[in-house]
Amino acid sequence: GFVLFLRGISCFAGFSTICFFPLETHFYHLSVSAGARNLLCLSHAVVTGATSGIGRAYANELARRGMDIVLISRSAEKLRQVAGDIESRFGRKTRVIQTDFTEGPSIYAAIEGGLQGLDIGILVNNVGMNYSELLSRFLDIPSPEQKITQVINCNIMSVTQMTRLVLPRMIERRKGLVINISSEAGSQPQPMLAMYSATKIFVTYFSRCLDAEYRLRGITVQCVAPFMVFTNMTRHLGVNPLAKRAPEFAWEALNTVGHATFTSGCMSHALQNLALSIFFPDWLRLSSFCMKHMEDYAQRVRQQGKEALDSSTYKEE
Ligand SMILES: NC(=O)c1ccc[n+]([C@@H]2O[C@H](COP(=O)([O-])OP(=O)(O)OC[C@H]3O[C@@H](n4cnc5c(N)ncnc54)[C@H](OP(=O)(O)O)[C@@H]3O)[C@@H](O)[C@H]2O)c1
Repeated sequence: GFVLFLRGISCFAGFSTICFFPLETHFYHLSVSAGARNLLCLSHAVVTGATSGIGRAYANELARRGMDIVLISRSAEKLRQVAGDIESRFGRKTRVIQTDFTEGPSIYAAIEGGLQGLDIGILVNNVGMNYSELLSRFLDIPSPEQKITQVINCNIMSVTQMTRLVLPRMIERRKGLVINISSEAGSQPQPMLAMYSATKIFVTYFSRCLDAEYRLRGITVQCVAPFMVFTNMTRHLGVNPLAKRAPEFAWEALNTVGHATFTSGCMSHALQNLALSIFFPDWLRLSSFCMKHMEDYAQRVRQQGKEALDSSTYKEE
């Protein structure tokens, strides 16, 4: 029933993509690769940024669906805890690799060593960071010299280097899925999040081009561009009725694999994307009028953020 429902949406989206091309919904750019449906029979999934939020939710959901998981993140303590949790809840094997993706190209030899001998069917390039919890102009980023390199290493370098490590074996087997987590902030230019937004459009274009390049070799590259998911990254924004819980988001997003290579990940985010494209187009978002209001909004968010952080109700699953 659910598959038929998705198919129905696919047809609608195909139709709307033709008719309203400039609006380009995120529903479904239908492109079903032959290998996409039986990927879960491969043994290992690798998830970057796997100890909290969306990454942890993907790791849990993939384990629940029968895969062994390689968790990659920065904190050894959190890695041990999440790995133990997956093993006891889902009975799957785990392996952990501790690394800091902000460090740049030097870390990938060790990651390659950590992945040695594994049959990797799925790579989830999830790790990502923003440079400031709050909206800010480019020059107002705290410690800009350092942050520029860190954000590029974490959001761009990680996606390309991890793909380079894992893709060759997938191509040999003619089977593999790479899921890259972009963002709605990469779908449209976002002033006050300039660098974050720019790194995410890189992820989107990289994914879509790569999918075209390797589709005929049995590889699916899916780009997921969520709106707001309730995680550590967004907890300063407080409770928001439009935000999705990470476990529900991962469940819904994984159900789009094989049906969509570019998706918002869930229905509510696809609708928000459509509404924004219609009611808040680029010319308006980038206007001086909007910038002025955005500054005022940033001030308010700064204030609310302080209060939300003080009394945060966010809890990991
Ligand atoms: N939340 C949203 O609303 C939203 C919306 C659109 C897109 N996204 C994207 O979704 C992805 C996940 O975001 P999230 O909200 O789930 O973030 P999150 O809750 O802050 O989780 C980030 C994960 O990445 C790890 N991590 C952070 N920096 C790292 C580094 N330098 N090296 C290694 N691991 C690192 C963290 O673990 P440790 O702290 O243990 O290292 C954690 O496991 C990001 O790419 C983000 O841009 C999020």
